[in-house]
Amino acid sequence: MEKNNTTEWSNVRKDFPGLEKQTYLNAAGMSPLPGPVHEAGASVLKLMSDDVAGFAENVLPLNIKSHYAVAGFYNADVNDIALVNTTSMGMNMVALHFRNIQPNKTEVVVLADEFPSSTIPWEKQGYTLKYINPEKDGRYEANRILAEVSQNTAAVVASYVQYNTGSRLDVFALAQALKEKNVHFVLNATQAAGIIPIDLSELPVSAMVTSGNKWIMAGIGGAVLYLPEHIRGQQFPPLAGWLSADPISFNNKPENLNKGAASLEVGLNSLVPVVCVAAAVEYLQSIGVAKIEQRVLSLADLLINGLLESKAEVLTPVNREDRAGIVSVRRKDAPEWVSRLKANDIHVVLRGPDDVRISPHIYNDEKDIIALLESW
Ligand SMILES: Cc1ncc(COP(=O)(O)O)c(C=O)c1O
Repeated sequence: MEKNNTTEWSNVRKDFPGLEKQTYLNAAGMSPLPGPVHEAGASVLKLMSDDVAGFAENVLPLNIKSHYAVAGFYNADVNDIALVNTTSMGMNMVALHFRNIQPNKTEVVVLADEFPSSTIPWEKQGYTLKYINPEKDGRYEANRILAEVSQNTAAVVASYVQYNTGSRLDVFALAQALKEKNVHFVLNATQAAGIIPIDLSELPVSAMVTSGNKWIMAGIGGAVLYLPEHIRGQQFPPLAGWLSADPISFNNKPENLNKGAASLEVGLNSLVPVVCVAAAVEYLQSIGVAKIEQRVLSLADLLINGLLESKAEVLTPVNREDRAGIVSVRRKDAPEWVSRLKANDIHVVLRGPDDVRISPHIYNDEKDIIALLESW
C-alpha cells in the first residue's frame, strides 16, 4: 500500500471491489467492508458451518483477541472496553452507570443538533437535558458549553463530529477544561472514529461510544463502549448476565463478579461483528489513521471548494479544524437532485427537506467528487 511512505490510494480503492460500479459518498450513513474485513467475517461463518467443534473452541479466544485489537486501536486498557451492538446500547449503559455513581445530579448538557443516541438514553433515565445552540456557522465553542455547566451537571454528552452539519468539536480543549472543572465528559465518536486518531490515554473522557458501521467500516452490529474503572465502580452492573460473573466457573450467584467493562456484554455477542470490528481497526491501522484523516480532509476540501465556486450554501464549517468527513449543503430542489444523482449511481443522502449530506471516505477518489460536482 505504501510507496516511499506515500499511500497509494488507488490500491486502497481496490479493497472495495463493489465500488467499481457505484459512486458511494455516504460513509456517515454506512460504509462498505474492505476486503480483509469481509474475509475475516466470512471466515467465522465458514467455521460455524464447516467445523463447529473448531468454532466452539474459538469463540472465547476470538472474542478476547478482538477486545485487545480494539483496545490497541484506541490506546485504552482492555479492561475498559466492551464490544456492544450499537452506540445507542452503549450510551444506555453509560447513562445507567451515571445514575448509580452520582444519583443526586440531575442535568446533562448536550448539543442542540446531536444524534438522538446521545440524548434519548439520558432523557430515559430522567435527566433534564440542557441543549446548547451552535454558532451561526454550525461550530460549537467550548466556552459556550462550559458556561452551561453547574454543580448539578452529571455530564456533558457530545459528538466529536455532528452527524448532520459535520461540525467538529475541539474535543481536547473541551475534555481538558471539563476535567479541570471536575465534570464528566461522555463522547460519541461515531462520526469521527476511523478517520480522526483517538488516543484514550491522552484524552480525558469519562466514557466513549462509537458505532462500527460508518468510518470504521466494520458493518452493522459492532460498536465499542469505553467505560473506565472509575465510572464502572465496584458495584453490581446495571445489566448483568453470565459474562458479568466469572465465565469459567459458571457461578449462578452474584459472586466473583467480572470487574471488566466486558461484563456489560452480559452474554455471548454475535461473533461476526466482533471479529469484523477487530479486522477493521487493524485495516485502518495498516494505513494509518493520521494519513486517513488527511486524505478524507483533502477530498472534503475539493468538494467544499467546488460547491463554493458554484455559489452553493455549504452548511458545514469551512475551516479544516472544524470539520472531518461530512459536508452538508443546502439546495432548494434537494430531493430531485439526490434522485437524479441516484439515477446515475451516485449515492448521497437527504438530511431534512433542503439539505444533502455528502461524506467521502478513503474508498472514494477525486473522480467521485468531480462526478458529483458536475451534476450540481
Ligand atoms: C453520532 C451518531 N451516533 C449514533 C448513531 C447511531 O448509532 P447506533 O445505530 O449504533 O446506535 C449515528 C448514526 O447515524 C450517529 O451519527
